[in-house]
Amino acid sequence: MRGLSWLLGFVATCQLACWAQAADMGSLDSTEPLRVGLLRDGNFPFSQPAQTSVPANHAGLEGFEVDLMDALCEAAEINCTAVPLATLDERISGVANGTLDFTISALSYTPGREAVVHFIRPFYYESGVALFGSDQAGLDLFGPDAPTQQALEAASGWGGLFTGSFLAGQTLCAVEGYYALPFILKDIPNLNVRVLPTLQEASDTVRGGGCAAFMYDSVTPVSEVALQVLNAPPAYESPYGVGISLEDKGSELEQRLVYAMTGLMNQGNSSRILELEQQWLVPNGIGPSSALQDVVTAISTFGSQPSGPGESQVPQSYSLFGTRQTGR
Ligand SMILES: *[C@@H]1O[C@H](CO)[C@@H](O)[C@H](O)[C@H]1NC(C)=O
Ligand SMILES: *[C@@H]1O[C@H](CO)[C@@H](O)[C@H](O)[C@H]1NC(C)=O
Ligand SMILES: *[C@@H]1O[C@H](CO)[C@@H](O)[C@H](O)[C@H]1NC(C)=O
Repeated sequence: MRGLSWLLGFVATCQLACWAQAADMGSLDSTEPLRVGLLRDGNFPFSQPAQTSVPANHAGLEGFEVDLMDALCEAAEINCTAVPLATLDERISGVANGTLDFTISALSYTPGREAVVHFIRPFYYESGVALFGSDQAGLDLFGPDAPTQQALEAASGWGGLFTGSFLAGQTLCAVEGYYALPFILKDIPNLNVRVLPTLQEASDTVRGGGCAAFMYDSVTPVSEVALQVLNAPPAYESPYGVGISLEDKGSELEQRLVYAMTGLMNQGNSSRILELEQQWLVPNGIGPSSALQDVVTAISTFGSQPSGPGESQVPQSYSLFGTRQTGR
């Protein structure tokens, strides 16, 4: 009896698990493309409306994360189509409620976010919080007599905001839904923050004198906000990750994306992700990211510098099935 009930239990479990697996496989292998959330606004040069004609699955977008989508989906052998997003909030709500299969949208990792969406590893970029100001107005943040650069680099600069030396009465602008805002408000409880719905409105408010400076991603090109980056090291550096639904954690979709992402990083300095960084980010004044270089080096070499992709980490005499070609 005991044996039979165990068997029946196994069959029942398998029916559920096997059905779930079959459904999962069906969606990955179907010709219906997976829906990938990409920001349309305020995310240049990661994703923005295209200047030239682009493939239909880009939905009129181009940029680093759009090409990253294609590279990942090709390696993962899935069909993907971009879904342009108008607001930051839609990245997480869309993945959480299933209208998006995943998102590649400058989504910075935070523990709070990982309780709502799952970030696949490895992460693919990083950003910190920088301060953008219109020259003198921004400098006044650090006191009326602050010497131009010295004050911002000193402990009383941007870092000083977190140790309590922030000047009373100053207001910082931020964009609604910005990931670092909860940490900053927690660390500087008396900070006056004015939250605006869009990047454009936040930078306009700084220019109009409504805020002393604007806090936003250090990877934002100054041309986008038409403000200067205040010369202080970014705070709260945090990685960008591909976000999938919590239900897809550990699924075949995640396994394929992890495999694909690692594949974009395992060819040393010839890795596809570094080519995309050179193509989209570096010409716009972003990067090259030393964190990305470190990850690529680590994945490609396991601790030693390769003499060429794939050459140093495996002994030349190593042979799989006896016929494996070594090197390239
Ligand atoms: C992707 O879609 C095309 C049709 O648009 C189809 O021929 C192909 O089999 C699909 N590939 C996968 C991996 O689903
Ligand atoms: C899911 O989230 C998206 C993005 O926020 C929203 O537009 C959509 O209405 C939501 N759908 C459901 C069924 O909740
Ligand atoms: C890869 O590029 C980095 C940054 O340009 C450089 O420091 C490093 O030496 C390069 N590594 C190899 C193996 O060429």
